[in-house]
Amino acid sequence: MGMVETLRSVIRFRPIELDPVARRLAKAADVSDLRKIAERRLPHGVFDYIDGAAEDERTVVANTEGYRTRTFRPRVLRDVSNIDPSTTLLGRRLPLPLVLGPTGFARIADPQGELAVARAAARAGLPFTLSTIGTRSIEEVAAVSDGPKWFQLYVFRDRGLTKELVERAKAAGYEALMLTVDTAVFGRRERDIRRGFTLPPKIGLDTIIDGAVHPGWTWAFVRSEPIVFANVAGRDVGDGTSAVALAEYVNTQLDASLSWKDLDWLRSVWDGPLVLKGIQTVADAELAAEAGVDAVSLSNHGGRQLDTAPATVDLIEPVVQAVGDRVEVICDGGVRRGSDVVKAVALGAKAVSVGRAHFYALGAGGERGVDHVLGLLDAGVRRTMALVGATSVDEITRDLLE
Ligand code: GLV
Repeated sequence: MGMVETLRSVIRFRPIELDPVARRLAKAADVSDLRKIAERRLPHGVFDYIDGAAEDERTVVANTEGYRTRTFRPRVLRDVSNIDPSTTLLGRRLPLPLVLGPTGFARIADPQGELAVARAAARAGLPFTLSTIGTRSIEEVAAVSDGPKWFQLYVFRDRGLTKELVERAKAAGYEALMLTVDTAVFGRRERDIRRGFTLPPKIGLDTIIDGAVHPGWTWAFVRSEPIVFANVAGRDVGDGTSAVALAEYVNTQLDASLSWKDLDWLRSVWDGPLVLKGIQTVADAELAAEAGVDAVSLSNHGGRQLDTAPATVDLIEPVVQAVGDRVEVICDGGVRRGSDVVKAVALGAKAVSVGRAHFYALGAGGERGVDHVLGLLDAGVRRTMALVGATSVDEITRDLLE
């Protein structure tokens, strides 16, 4: 009798979740869980494009390790009953110091692609950055999101086309232009080379087998409209109608001659806030400040360009010391937890930008996956602030870190 009562008091069956996406996401406690789910659901070539990085993939690891190896100096008894992680970035109030950074080709992870990410970002009140090589166009994204939107620019050799993209972004209400400057030539992504990965993913014997073991993805892929580089659909530069290796595309279509003097040209076609993404030294941050940009994004392209480039978190302090009074400093790369966001802010960053975190989430659970990861990061920032004794971003100070 006693045993039955004891058992009755402890046995609890969770209600059975019939919705497969909700079931999957309920088990995703952090970004690494979302990554594992994405790995299971996506064909190997697609997952490796998202997850992979340049050459020996040391920088992508250094980016995340840079956060993991930094420790806090938590303060206690500071009344943390009200936590406010909001901040101001480029003149706009944001609920969190977080930007959804650009990634190419979101539709390879989910048929809705950038539309799903933009809608989730808008719900969270956070900026969504559309990539030049996105698979939904400037206008399509604007039609589904009235949240803050930024446009990431690659400069094509065809300056007329580049100018047109900037003008379209302005007309569609994008608030900031983010010029990526670390992609003079394409990084060597060896996982993609080994797999012969192209965009859009092509169907060959190996991909048929890969697709057959990922039927959910394959069914969604074949039922939705073809994946193209939506911003340049139908243009001479190539729009992905025939599959192309990204390295070949970047190396033939983008302008490797881009230099500091081109910023004047860009300023003549864009009068809004300008962010330079891909700054990796104090020296270049100084030049960016002299050029009058509004923000720099410390970025090594998620370790996808120059391997053994420095971990971006290590750049925050020296760059903020050098130019923090003139430009806003965003740190991109390696952020997987709310505590990472707090560490970046403690070092002096105004905000962080994430890429893989929302790309994994999109692959794991579509739009709801992106909602889920943004919820995890929001909760993580708030929990960390409470545990280190900071109630606002102004209180996230350098002395909270070792
Ligand atoms: C594109 O910008 C990529 O990193 O693959």
